[in-house]
Parts: sequence; C-alpha cells; structure tokens
Amino acid sequence: MTAVAVEFKNVCKHFPEAEVNAVSHVSLKINQGEFITILGTSGSGKTTLMKMVNRLHDITSGDIFFFGENINSLPVVEYRRKIGYVVQQGGLFPHMTVAENIAVVPHILKWDKEKIDARVDELLEMVGLKKELYKDRYPRQLSGGQQQRIGIARAMASDPAVMLMDEPFGAIDAITRENLQDELLRIQKALHKTILFVTHDISEAFKLGDRVIVMHEGKVQQFDTPDRIMLHPANDFVAKFVSADDVMKKLQVLKVHTIMDGLSIKTSNQLAVAHVDDTLETLLKLFMTSSTQTVLVKDDKDKIVGEVSWHRLSAIAS
Ligand SMILES: Nc1ncnc2c1ncn2[C@@H]1O[C@H](COP(=O)(O)OP(=O)(O)O)[C@@H](O)[C@H]1O
Ligand SMILES: [Mg+2]
Repeated sequence: MTAVAVEFKNVCKHFPEAEVNAVSHVSLKINQGEFITILGTSGSGKTTLMKMVNRLHDITSGDIFFFGENINSLPVVEYRRKIGYVVQQGGLFPHMTVAENIAVVPHILKWDKEKIDARVDELLEMVGLKKELYKDRYPRQLSGGQQQRIGIARAMASDPAVMLMDEPFGAIDAITRENLQDELLRIQKALHKTILFVTHDISEAFKLGDRVIVMHEGKVQQFDTPDRIMLHPANDFVAKFVSADDVMKKLQVLKVHTIMDGLSIKTSNQLAVAHVDDTLETLLKLFMTSSTQTVLVKDDKDKIVGEVSWHRLSAIAS
C-alpha cells in the first residue's frame, strides 16, 4: 500500500480582516509519489494552501498531516527541510553562484565539501545543465528557463520527500515551458517525488497532474484525474473552467489510454503506433497522416498494449 504523503482534514484559512476564508474546508489525501496539480483562477487560494503545507501560513482550523504526523507537532525547521519549495521567479540568491545557490541547504546541514560538490554536479546533470558551463555563473547570467532549472535543483538538494511548486513556469515562454514540463515529468518518473504543483494554466495542469485539484473561492471544486475532470466535471464551474464541452480542448487534454481498446487485430508493422500518454490531438494527426482505420498503442517499454479505431476517436468529438 502506498503511504499518504500529505493529508488535509477540514482545513480553513482566514486572514484577519478578510470577509471570507481564503481556503475553506479542504479535505483530501495525496499519496506518496503522486504528481498533483492545483488549478484555479487568481485568488482562489492555491498559494495559501501550499503555504500552509510548508508552515509559512498558520492553519486557522483543521489539520494537515505529513506522512501521518500532524505538521504542527513537528519541529518547524527540520520539517521544512523535508519539503522542497520552488516559486515563480526561482527565488535564487543574486549574489551567489549557481553552485552556491544549489548548496544552500546541504551547507546548512553541514555536509562536507566533497559531498556537496558531488551533489551539485549530480543535480545540475539532473536538470540538464552542463556543470562546467553553469556552476560558477550568477543568476543574472542565466535565462529565465535556466534559473527555474536551478530553482528545481536547489529545492531537490536535500532529497525532500515532497516538492511544492508555485507557478514555477509562470513567467517562462511557451517553448521553454514545454521543455521544462517534460524535464520535470522525467525527473518525477525517475525519483517518484510527491509533487504539489500550482498553475492557472489548464493544459499545464492536465499534462503534468496524475490528479488535479480544481480550486475556486477557496474551495476544492473537484479532485480527480484529468480525464475524469474533462469527461465528468463535478459542477458548472469546473465544466466552464476546463471547457469540458470544447472538442479541441478534449483532444488536447485527453490521453490515448483513456479511449484505448484491447488488441483485436494482428499487429502489423505497417500500422501507425501511438504512445499511451500521447494526447488525442497527436493521435488525430497520426490518423490523418497514416490514412489507417486503426492505430496501435504502445507503452513506455515499446510494448503494444492496445488499439484505437477511427470510429472510437471520432465518437469523442460528438
Ligand atoms: N497574507 C495575506 N493577507 C491577507 N489576505 C491574503 C494574504 N495572502 C492571500 N490573501 C488573500 O487570500 C485569497 C487567496 O489568495 P492566494 O492563495 O494567493 O490565491 P491564488 O494563489 O490562488 O491566486 C485572496 O483573496 C488573497 O487576497
Ligand atoms: Mg498564487
């Protein structure tokens, strides 16, 4: 059984002088190793929710548990070290080099120099930056995307169990952003971190999240897988917000595995092959360019695991 990494039990946050709760009666469980995205309009309470996990904000009522322990019963400094935190602008220290920035926490933990150096090299490689080129640079000598990579490396330095990421790619251009998303997915697949990732970008939330928390006015509107949210929105707000009746959106968000059938035909190397995690939009293009009636579907290990017929795909559009 997988452990529950973070549990919210009836959590509310009320800021003094505010008319309504910033976060209202949130109860949910996040399993170890899950990639959770938190999606919502501006002011819906996403950042407040994350800051309570990190104890940067006190909880007004209710409880948050971290691997079964009430976070308010844990020594705050030690507790925070088990959590990596990445914010929009990277939050790098401008007067420190890349290597020094990444080593902030290991330094506090008094690791010896060799161990720190080795860890910095390892993390730079993990986020796809050549150590000899970047180690000694200052943040101002990096592009926005590179700064975010360093921000991620720094947050991962002490190998935290849980990563909190608050709109980390919010200020990044579309192409770099896609690359960063792919890198983060790759890292998460390799390291099985539990990630809470805030975004107001629907495609980003659906691409990255195993499950998505949709927030509005401090309340969780729906907490479910991307395809369940798209196909069965819990209420009108969710339906409107994710444009669940928009065919193009559906094609962009839904993955091949959600409409895949078991293999009924003999595999032939003449048939086009899609990946289980490709979007239906990619699948549609494949149908168009291969002029076939059926596309085979492979998994991560290149094993053919199913098929999708043209008929099945076109049913999504109606
Ligand atoms: N430190 C604070 N003091 C008072 N009100 C705050 C504070 N931080 C956030 N709020 C309010 O709480 C609500 C939720 O804010 P926030 O969690 O930042 O939303 P989001 O991250 O979804 O944009 C907003 O109405 C915001 O104005
Ligand atoms: Mg925010």
